Amino acid sequence: MELIEKLQWRYATKAMNGQKVDQDKIDTILKAISLAPTSSGLQPFEVIVITNTELKKEIQKVSWNQPVVADCSHLFIFAAWDTYTEARINRVFDLTNEIRGSKDERLENYRQKLLSVYPQRDEEENFQHAARQAYIALSQGLSAAAFLGIDTTPMEGFEPEKVDQILNLREKGLRSCVMMAVGYRDIENDRLVDQKKVRKPIDEMVTFIN
Ligand SMILES: Cc1cc2nc3c(=O)[nH]c(=O)nc-3n(C[C@H](O)[C@H](O)[C@H](O)COP(=O)(O)O)c2cc1C
Repeated sequence: MELIEKLQWRYATKAMNGQKVDQDKIDTILKAISLAPTSSGLQPFEVIVITNTELKKEIQKVSWNQPVVADCSHLFIFAAWDTYTEARINRVFDLTNEIRGSKDERLENYRQKLLSVYPQRDEEENFQHAARQAYIALSQGLSAAAFLGIDTTPMEGFEPEKVDQILNLREKGLRSCVMMAVGYRDIENDRLVDQKKVRKPIDEMVTFIN
């Protein structure tokens, strides 16, 4: 299948059949998520991957009781940093120096610039910025799964504070912002299986300026 065919094939699945997704495919989706671009390359989020049945059911209760939360194979919770700290910023710049094996003056200046702005900024503003990066990664995860013929549901329909409590995220300096159920569509029971995709005409979205 070509790119557009695969993106056309995916849809926000409403019922999954409980079939397990192989670990190598989950690893590929996670790799794609980690390869997503993020602002300043900070990757300011973590992904919690849940297969435990009881835990999925517990999270379903605070997720508008959406069936896919329990019936998916793997439930990905995207948890963004609650704020930017010096340590979090330094870790990324130090890692860059380590991997590239050199210190780049421009990069060091950029590190200082971020250190002079982000840690002092309002925590909520920092969290919202971090969450936006998690959404970019979510999108990459959705596309990667479609490429592998795996179904997904992106989900904001849950109570983040309650999910944070269940997973003890606040203690780790994280806040849940979006979820992705991963599995296989339940062809018998998903009312959306054969529905046509709905998108506004492209020209309502795009303006070309030459
Ligand atoms: C950030 C985000 C949150 C969403 N939350 C939910 C959700 O909680 N439950 C759900 O069934 N669908 C959810 N959706 C799916 C959208 O309704 C769906 O992507 C949209 O209607 C377009 O349809 P398609 O993805 O099937 O092409 C969400 C999508 C996004 C991007």
